[in-house]
Amino acid sequence: MIVAVDGPSGAGKSTVCREVARRLQWRLLDTGAIYRCVALRARLANVVDEPAKCAEIAKDIDIRFVASAEGQRVFIGDEDVSEAIRTFETTQCVNRVSAMGEVRAQLLNIQRRLGALGDTIVEGRDIGSVVFPDAELKVFYTATPEARARRRLAEFEKRGESFNFEQVVEQIRLRDETEFHREHSPLVQCDEAVVLDTSAFDFEASCVALQKLIEARKAELSLV
Ligand code: DC
Repeated sequence: MIVAVDGPSGAGKSTVCREVARRLQWRLLDTGAIYRCVALRARLANVVDEPAKCAEIAKDIDIRFVASAEGQRVFIGDEDVSEAIRTFETTQCVNRVSAMGEVRAQLLNIQRRLGALGDTIVEGRDIGSVVFPDAELKVFYTATPEARARRRLAEFEKRGESFNFEQVVEQIRLRDETEFHREHSPLVQCDEAVVLDTSAFDFEASCVALQKLIEARKAELSLV
């Protein structure tokens, strides 16, 4: 069974999907990590603004997800890039690289191959619309910009950093604009997707809500 979970950045989708996959003993496919791997390689090769070269990287890249005690590690070949793909520098490049149609086309097969290995939660932006249009369950996981900003500020505070709430809300709105309106594979809410608005939920409630949707769909399918 494939569960496609799409939604905007910063709603906590990744952490919740990871936890629910762990509880269900399912696989998790974090497609953002795949785009981040390409962005990392493109950045190191200094070709972030060259679509043909980025597509070449995407075509040949050997990405593996390896289960570990604290979650999943991401490898390119034999190199553990789990931290490198999440640095500020790589994060700044990934928007540009993931907006390239050539790169997205190259990454389709990798995503489909990695998603076909068993019961899997696949999370991203275009999973239900493009990558797995036949997914047994599609979820649009979201939260208001204000709720997302509050979560982000709580993280900043834990690290002893402080930010202005209005500014963070504004940044989130701008990023949504880009993701919803880019030319290739914009973030779309499929008609058949179940909307999971987690604005009023904490982490545990968000996990339970997603898990219930999956279990209900699974029960429905076993009755057919
Ligand atoms: O979920 P994330 O922040 O790790 O995603 C990293 C980037 O990749 C972000 O710019 C959105 C993009 N992305 C995408 O375009 N399509 C996907 N299926 C997953 C992520």
